[in-house]
Amino acid sequence: MARIRFENVNKKYANGFHAVKDLNLDIQDEEFVVLLGPSGCGKSTTLNMIAGLEEVTDGALIFDDQMVNYMPPHRRDVAMVFQSYALYPHKTIFDNIAFGLQMRKQSKEEIERRVRNAARRLEIEHMLDRRPGQLSGGQRQRVALGRAMVRDPAVFLMDEPLSNLDAALRVSMRAEIKELHQEMQTTFVYVTHDQAEALTLADRIVVMSDGIVQQVGTPDEIYEHPANTFVASFLGSPPMNYIDGEIEIEGEDRALFRHDSVTLRLPENLSRKLNTDSGHRVRLGIRAEDVDEKGEVVEGQIIRGTVNSVLPVGSDQFLGMAFGDDELFFRVGKDLRHKTGENVTLAVDVSRLHFFDAATGKSLVA
Ligand SMILES: Nc1ncnc2c1ncn2[C@@H]1O[C@H](COP(=O)(O)OP(=O)(O)O)[C@@H](O)[C@H]1O
Ligand SMILES: [Mg+2]
Repeated sequence: MARIRFENVNKKYANGFHAVKDLNLDIQDEEFVVLLGPSGCGKSTTLNMIAGLEEVTDGALIFDDQMVNYMPPHRRDVAMVFQSYALYPHKTIFDNIAFGLQMRKQSKEEIERRVRNAARRLEIEHMLDRRPGQLSGGQRQRVALGRAMVRDPAVFLMDEPLSNLDAALRVSMRAEIKELHQEMQTTFVYVTHDQAEALTLADRIVVMSDGIVQQVGTPDEIYEHPANTFVASFLGSPPMNYIDGEIEIEGEDRALFRHDSVTLRLPENLSRKLNTDSGHRVRLGIRAEDVDEKGEVVEGQIIRGTVNSVLPVGSDQFLGMAFGDDELFFRVGKDLRHKTGENVTLAVDVSRLHFFDAATGKSLVA
């Protein structure tokens, strides 16, 4: 069992670099938490503090009810899987998986039982006599997972475990990791810079930037209600479009977004939730998928522009639209035929618009 709490945790490296700033986070027992953010934002540093591989500079790291700041890694009951699988090339797969248990002087029978059990669950049982060089990347990563599984840890830590795999394998391994979590019923803390991976795997996502937590929430909360433009831009593909303009309040539940070349009428409930005054400078966010080329053309619910680019992506296509000095990207049906230079009118799903303060980037929707 393990609940993991960070209370005002900071990490400063020896060279003075402040990698994690005032981290407060409460990870529940058996929860699957994903730390998400761009390279260098402090994800691995955070994970390494849980593992005990990096010291907490100040604040408290607490497992269940025990402060573990000074507890050595081997006493923490955590297992970690890295991006580089770090297998021993000369040992068999069996011995690679068993290594940690052998070091702990477990009985031969117990080791045999645990290794076979893990190998069966990961479907690598028939490879136990081989050596890492004879396995594919995906199989090797499963061996690395197996090595962590046999230890039956209270906390499973994974640092970009799928980054070395090709795209197709990454998707199927996601499903396996999710299944593994359900079977093992332990706490998982998983690091990735891949937003799609985070959305698929997480019970809750922690979005980080420059050592600071930007938002914590379920995948739905993070995607539907991003707290600021950083989070909004980091999730979604293609990323959210922005148009800077002004809000005009017409009544308690009637608001408009105005820009030189587009006016959008907000639906009642969104107007009511908007925390702003008339004339406020806002940044409007429209997700790429929240337009409909075949939708009804109603003034106040459309956006017009010129087609800049058409990029087919199999199931649908990305439409690049010149809009003033900017280019907006939308996801439209694959049967639509557009030529560059053509004028288009897109119906906007105004119930799904996002509004941010133009100066601070913070969400203006309650
Ligand atoms: N041992 C170290 N000494 C100094 N700076 C470090 C050290 N390790 C990492 N950093 C810096 O801390 C920041 C966060 O690193 P890291 O946690 O590895 O980021 P992420 O895993 O999100 O890519 C980076 O700017 C990195 O260069
Ligand atoms: Mg990292």
